Amino acid sequence: MKVSCGTDIIEIDRVKDAMEKYEGKFQTEIFTEIEVNYCESHKNQKYQHYAVRFAAKEAIFKAISNKLSKNYSWNDFEIINNEIGKPEVFLKTNIPEIESIDVSLSHCKEYAVANVVVLFK
Ligand SMILES: CC(C)(COP(=O)(O)OP(=O)(O)OC[C@H]1O[C@@H](n2cnc3c(N)ncnc32)[C@H](O)[C@@H]1OP(=O)(O)O)[C@@H](O)C(=O)NCCC(=O)NCCS
Repeated sequence: MKVSCGTDIIEIDRVKDAMEKYEGKFQTEIFTEIEVNYCESHKNQKYQHYAVRFAAKEAIFKAISNKLSKNYSWNDFEIINNEIGKPEVFLKTNIPEIESIDVSLSHCKEYAVANVVVLFK
């Protein structure tokens, strides 16, 4: 088995600006319905939650880019928090080379950061 890590940091205001500029298009292109529902449930701080999920998907792309030849889209990966709040990554498309992806997220007022570890079969 092989592992590959990825990381990304993003300014939350950049995600906010993009979402306001492109309205629903940015939202539906990047995030799944479950992710949107989760972020929207945090009304006052929703952009922190959107931004950190965006960062997580960027981090995944970094981790897989030199391992897989096919290009994947944002919504091929879905982040759902489990019952204790830990985020988990689910594949929305079949990627046979990937065994699992672990993710850790953090955000403050200005920045969101994500780290992933991808385990390959
Ligand atoms: C879980 C905990 C460590 C998160 O710390 P925090 O400083 O509030 O978290 P940050 O603001 O840096 O990051 C928030 C992210 O942490 C992640 N997170 C939340 N709970 C988590 C958990 N139990 N395990 C792993 N990650 C968790 C989420 O991804 C969250 O972002 P999201 O809601 O957008 O998905 C904190 O709430 C805590 O200490 N809780 C009490 C003790 C506890 O439950 N510990 C876990 C078991 S040891």
